Amino acid sequence: MTYQKDYKKIVLITGCSSGIGLDAAVFLATKGIRVYAGVRNPERIGLLDNAAGRDGVGHLLTPVKLDVDHNEEIDQVTRLIFEKERDAADAGAEFILVNNAGFAVIGAAEDITLEAYERQFRTNFFGAVALTKAFLPELRRRGRGKVIQISSTFGRIAAPVVSAYAASKFALEGFSESLRYEVIRHGIYISLVEPGPVISNLIDNINYAEGYESSPYREFYQKYQDLAEMSNLVASQPREISETILRIIESPKPSLRYPIGATAAAETLNRFIPEALVENFYKFI
Ligand SMILES: NC(=O)c1ccc[n+]([C@@H]2O[C@H](COP(=O)([O-])OP(=O)(O)OC[C@H]3O[C@@H](n4cnc5c(N)ncnc54)[C@H](OP(=O)(O)O)[C@@H]3O)[C@@H](O)[C@H]2O)c1
Repeated sequence: MTYQKDYKKIVLITGCSSGIGLDAAVFLATKGIRVYAGVRNPERIGLLDNAAGRDGVGHLLTPVKLDVDHNEEIDQVTRLIFEKERDAADAGAEFILVNNAGFAVIGAAEDITLEAYERQFRTNFFGAVALTKAFLPELRRRGRGKVIQISSTFGRIAAPVVSAYAASKFALEGFSESLRYEVIRHGIYISLVEPGPVISNLIDNINYAEGYESSPYREFYQKYQDLAEMSNLVASQPREISETILRIIESPKPSLRYPIGATAAAETLNRFIPEALVENFYKFI
């Protein structure tokens, strides 16, 4: 293998076939960071190779097949990284995990099947938990490391038809906040990145609840779709998220939460808006 040996950071990012993951993998490599880029479908690895080749960072970027729904793939990939990078880590390089893979199930709670809720949690929550747990013992032994969770504004604020997605991100927030206080004494920092709308494939890959066209809640679906379309006007580019990930990686003591983009202010405002006002808004829209 011909990659540089003087890198100081070794990063695994999940979900690198498109959107935030693809941009972050290549961007971090351009900063001299050694990147393992998880891709669930091997047929999509070419996209990553092309982007890395264009930016001349192929030597720093290794695509790895990784479906976060499969624990055996998680074990394989983490073992591979810790073995291959033992010398670099012994020489002081830091391991960083970025849990980015995710998708959205959208629908009214009555319309979403239990199976769809489970699928949503399997990827967005349990996938991130499994990878975090696979990384933690090595990070603790070395007395340093970071875990960066790509959450969402919907990890702090919920709305109609996002119960599955928001619940998976709220769960990720609770897990990460608790974990942060457990591991900070071991030199490990857990951070949550909370983007508002971002230009990516997320909207195209939405899993809508079956039969939503005839749902008694259909006006909420329509409102959601209108809002999703409008949000394109204020959506962040993936690069904004990649730059925040880099800032966290480079910080000696990163914070717990990083709200980003058009809805960042909503997180602060939400604490001051009376609940009754929000309820009336949803009753009458
Ligand atoms: N876009 C937004 O508006 C927005 C806002 C806030 C937070 N986020 C979060 O940002 C993260 C990245 O999403 P994105 O916006 O970049 O959307 P995206 O373009 O759809 O990218 C999602 C990535 O996750 C991968 N993925 C999905 N399920 C997976 C699994 N089981 N195992 C491994 N990889 C899997 C997808 O792979 P495939 O190509 O194989 O499907 C894809 O590479 C997600 O966690 C999302 O919740 C997005």
